[in-house]
Amino acid sequence: MRGLLRNIGALARCLPGGPQDDANVIHDAAIAWDDGSIRWVGAERELPRAYQAWPAGDAGGRLVVPGLVDCHTHLAFAGWRADEFVRRLQGATYLEIAAAGGGIASTVARTRAADASSLLKTCEGHLAGMLRLGVTTVEAKSGYGLTLESELRILGVYRDLGLAGHRIIPTLLAAHTVPPEFRDRRAGYVELVIEEIIPQAAAGRLARFCDVFVEESAFSVAEGRRILEAGKRHGLHPKLHADQLTSSGGAELAADVGAASADHLECISSRGIERMADTGVVAVSLPFASLYLGARPLPARRLLEAGVPVAVATDFNPGSAPSYHLPVAMTLACAMQRMTPAEALTGATIVAARAIGMEGEVGSLEAGKSADFAIVDADSVEQWLYHLRDNACVETVRRGETVWSVSGEP
Ligand code: NIG
Ligand code: FE
Repeated sequence: MRGLLRNIGALARCLPGGPQDDANVIHDAAIAWDDGSIRWVGAERELPRAYQAWPAGDAGGRLVVPGLVDCHTHLAFAGWRADEFVRRLQGATYLEIAAAGGGIASTVARTRAADASSLLKTCEGHLAGMLRLGVTTVEAKSGYGLTLESELRILGVYRDLGLAGHRIIPTLLAAHTVPPEFRDRRAGYVELVIEEIIPQAAAGRLARFCDVFVEESAFSVAEGRRILEAGKRHGLHPKLHADQLTSSGGAELAADVGAASADHLECISSRGIERMADTGVVAVSLPFASLYLGARPLPARRLLEAGVPVAVATDFNPGSAPSYHLPVAMTLACAMQRMTPAEALTGATIVAARAIGMEGEVGSLEAGKSADFAIVDADSVEQWLYHLRDNACVETVRRGETVWSVSGEP
């Protein structure tokens, strides 16, 4: 199916490889696509004759951006944890709550009890909300099952969502925490992850990435290294939850194993920044988690100055980041991390795509890429991310098809 969108006031291409604060904006632009892929992008006055008769829509002078890429979510979970939110406000720390059997473990208990169809239904609801915000690609982690059967069940839900048309990039996070039944024999759990869960997830082609939470309450650097190396042997590319609550050598480990990304990084060391810059690991900032846990913000300026690209994602989960609102996370990346709006946009598009190995397909608006874009009711990237609204997105297009539009709403 052919399509053309004219009268775009500002079109942010977010091309790969440039400085992160350049969103490659073209004014008075148009975009043409066919069969789900972009054919042409440029100033409308230069639109080649060949596209001029294609079925056209009018963007009304609005902003068009690449479909947003949420490169870090814990999409499938059962139940919420408002009680812990209140306990933290009263002074309990995330680590204290985890040590007392709450935190991740409490969501694990509820997620294990949920069958695949109810998880699927909940995820579909979240994804519908994300599409309304212009988010067309979602990385989704397992990690609330922590048994062979339940981790595979969660990854199976992601496979089914993909078959239903969602663009989901699945990550195995069996090493999210040591489940309660292994508390006194943690080595046994690491063996289970390495010997059974990784091989079976990989054999079923259910995951592309293998993630580990390296932290005092979860896994050590040595355990993380073994798990990520095992994942690599099975074709799963490494990713890490690193240096979130303490500086524990997570960024350095990410550099050692050649991870696609190291995520969180509020407590990253100077050495960690240098090692990530040298090895090309993408930093993924998760401003909701910093905000909800009262952590210091990620040192985005230091990372960017060192040459480390900084993605922005939600970390959507029921504990540290109970929101899938990526545009709000982008505004927080500006307000808390001193990223410019252009850096936040490239961070949630092309840089995020690189963090999940999708930069060849999505994350920028250029010929050959998937026709994934959002029409935003603003005249510039700066105005959009400065003016905090419930939703500025008026239409979302994925693979050349409108998957949500404000006018389609009752
Ligand atoms: O990314 N850091 C570890 N995992 C999640 C929190 C998960 C939870 O609290 O349920 C995170 O912040
Ligand atoms: Fe996370």
